[in-house]
Amino acid sequence: MTSTTSLFSPVEADLCILMENLKSLIGARHPVLYAAAEHLFGAKGKRVRPAIVLLVSRATLVDQEITLRHRRLAEITEMIHTASLVHDDVVDEAELRRGVPTVHSSFGNRIAVLAGDFLFAQSSWYLANLDNLEVVKLLSQVIMDLAEGEIQQGLNRFATNLSIEQYLEKSYYKTASLIANSSKAAAVLSEATPELIEHMYGYGRHIGLAFQIIDDILDFTGSTEALGKPAGSDLKSGNLTAPVLYALEEKQFLETLIEREFAQPGDLEQAIALVKDGQGIERSRELAMYHTRTAIDHLAVLPPSASRQALIKLGDYVLSRLY
Ligand code: IPE
Ligand code: IPE
Ligand code: MG
Ligand code: MG
Repeated sequence: MTSTTSLFSPVEADLCILMENLKSLIGARHPVLYAAAEHLFGAKGKRVRPAIVLLVSRATLVDQEITLRHRRLAEITEMIHTASLVHDDVVDEAELRRGVPTVHSSFGNRIAVLAGDFLFAQSSWYLANLDNLEVVKLLSQVIMDLAEGEIQQGLNRFATNLSIEQYLEKSYYKTASLIANSSKAAAVLSEATPELIEHMYGYGRHIGLAFQIIDDILDFTGSTEALGKPAGSDLKSGNLTAPVLYALEEKQFLETLIEREFAQPGDLEQAIALVKDGQGIERSRELAMYHTRTAIDHLAVLPPSASRQALIKLGDYVLSRLY
């Protein structure tokens, strides 16, 4: 298991500043919304996205210090991510996030929806204040993509004919778009060449897909305690992820169980057992490995640096993470 502390060491000091700034950026406009937001920023997130933004910033700016705009971009990225989690937990009716009760379970759905909106709106405001139209467009696209991803997922519940390509497209919208476009935006702020900018997008896209695939495996293999969020919930809610889609190719009865939406006692347990029994988890790992390798290939254009090295090692971290 690669630890994030050593992995993120080139940007560890930056990440400490980021967490402090995030709390003050949210501001105290309304005590309830503030409490809801602080609740999540105070809890332990992995900070993978801002770490990637900061590492790309440093890797694309050799011999130069990163700017306040790079830092603000990393903060905006984590803010958008956190907003999407607050809304996702409403949609998924999840009780636990980052090891603490979710905003909706503590404050109710109404507050959680407003708190998520509030975070999205705040992030847009800080985004506009970066005064870089290209970056504004990249991150605004992400906010649209997040909604598109949740909608696609919502429309395809229990759809056993879903293809791996459709699953990957949804995963791009839900997860990879934010990592890809924020990496790209970091390179834009560094005034990198168009070629380098596109490679940073490619890195983020593929590392993001690998991250989501591993997350979907962990939903089957991890524990609620370790994950800090409910395990085993994807299949139950009809969200068919890579391990299930592969398992459907070899386990006929799984289709029956999913199509009747686990209506009979023991259906869900049996379905989970079928997924774990076949090649689905292993094949999903291979898919994640393929995307990690593709991500790392995009880093070849970067000059050697500690940050570039950390971006490469992040591939191992994504594949070996346990939560
Ligand atoms: C959770 O993201 C949502 C997914 C895209 C899988 P993280 O696993 O990065 O969540 P935090 O930020 O560490 O809580
Ligand atoms: C996470 O989605 C939220 C977004 C990426 C918008 P998931 O539902 O797949 O992730 P977890 O399992 O709740 O973290
Ligand atoms: Mg969820
Ligand atoms: Mg969800």
